[in-house]
Amino acid sequence: MGADKDGINLSIPIVGDEEKAALLEVIESGWLSMGAKVQAFENAFAACHGQKSAVAVNSCTAALHLILRAFNIGPGDEILVPAVTFVATVNAVLYVGATPVFLDIEDLGRPFLSLDEAEAKCSPRTKAAIVMHYGGYIVDLPLWRDFCDVRRIRLIEDAAHAPGIPGVGRLSDASAFSFFANKNMSTAEGGMVLSPDDNVLADIRRLRGHGMTADTLVRHRGHAYSYDVNLLGYNYRMDELRAALGLVQLRHLPEWNRKRKSLTEVYRRKLAIETPSVRVPFDEGQTTAAHLMPVLLPEDCRRESVMDSLRSAGVQSSIHYPPVHQFSYYRKLYPNTVLPKSEEFCRRELTLPLHPALEEKDCDRVVNNLEAALKRGGER
Ligand SMILES: Cc1ncc(COP(=O)(O)O)c(C=O)c1O
Repeated sequence: MGADKDGINLSIPIVGDEEKAALLEVIESGWLSMGAKVQAFENAFAACHGQKSAVAVNSCTAALHLILRAFNIGPGDEILVPAVTFVATVNAVLYVGATPVFLDIEDLGRPFLSLDEAEAKCSPRTKAAIVMHYGGYIVDLPLWRDFCDVRRIRLIEDAAHAPGIPGVGRLSDASAFSFFANKNMSTAEGGMVLSPDDNVLADIRRLRGHGMTADTLVRHRGHAYSYDVNLLGYNYRMDELRAALGLVQLRHLPEWNRKRKSLTEVYRRKLAIETPSVRVPFDEGQTTAAHLMPVLLPEDCRRESVMDSLRSAGVQSSIHYPPVHQFSYYRKLYPNTVLPKSEEFCRRELTLPLHPALEEKDCDRVVNNLEAALKRGGER
């Protein structure tokens, strides 16, 4: 993700004069910790997703942790989770002492959690399902809502890859967003929780600030002299500098999401012509925030050689993801987990550069180099 001037970066944060001015304004205001900017960012983010309110936190990981805490999920509870995700999705389940139950994906073209698997692995101990909008492609939320309603379990969205997409954050019981540096909008580090339930948001607001009943700004404004602590909270607060960045980035988000989507279409066309052995997951018409540009290399391809060839041509590439259940930490905890489709997807997946500052000619260069890499030895 580091910026290389002549090369093509996998992703770059797009920040400029507006962000600098916003940061300067906060510095000159003399109030750096959580305050009015955080509130303004929460309101703007909620409105962008058709919601009344939101709670800003310092990462998506914190958001997931607090959502599970607010739903009183703990030891003895089981949570349905993907393995084709960033490890944070599943770590949050371990933080609260619950048990992750890994589900396989639908198929190689739709690396979403399979509902059939969910059906088979749901038990009386299941308390929630965490769905993840892989690469920015939106899972079928109405179907998942029905599934969870019938079983009276919570539906949680890990929406780290999908901010600003209509429908995201509306049907679930709570959703978590990431503003990490490589995301569609960034505050360097940061996260947000949406929930249609005001009580859940109120609990999360308290949990993010040590469980205190009145935060620093409320006390500063003289609305409270002291405070109580009536639950075990954390310091997961967002600060004013990050919120100021977020307000600027949020204004650009719709245009950046559109640009990402149109670059994805450019890639699809070129890949179909130049590298027909490479498969692009998802359908062209699928709703997406186009966070990633994943492709599936041919079955017998040596992925490392392809990545090496791309790197020597100045093209960054990556893998999303090594499957969570195969990390050594998770293998020790859950040694018998076998997810054939997830494992094959993760073995063949390669992520190509995608960010709003890319141009069509950059996509040409990436695809031409991929074609050459496959010829040179990527294909066994
Ligand atoms: C799917 C997914 N979930 C959760 C996270 C964690 O986000 P954060 O770094 O904001 O904690 C990420 C970050 O990369 C992610 O991609």
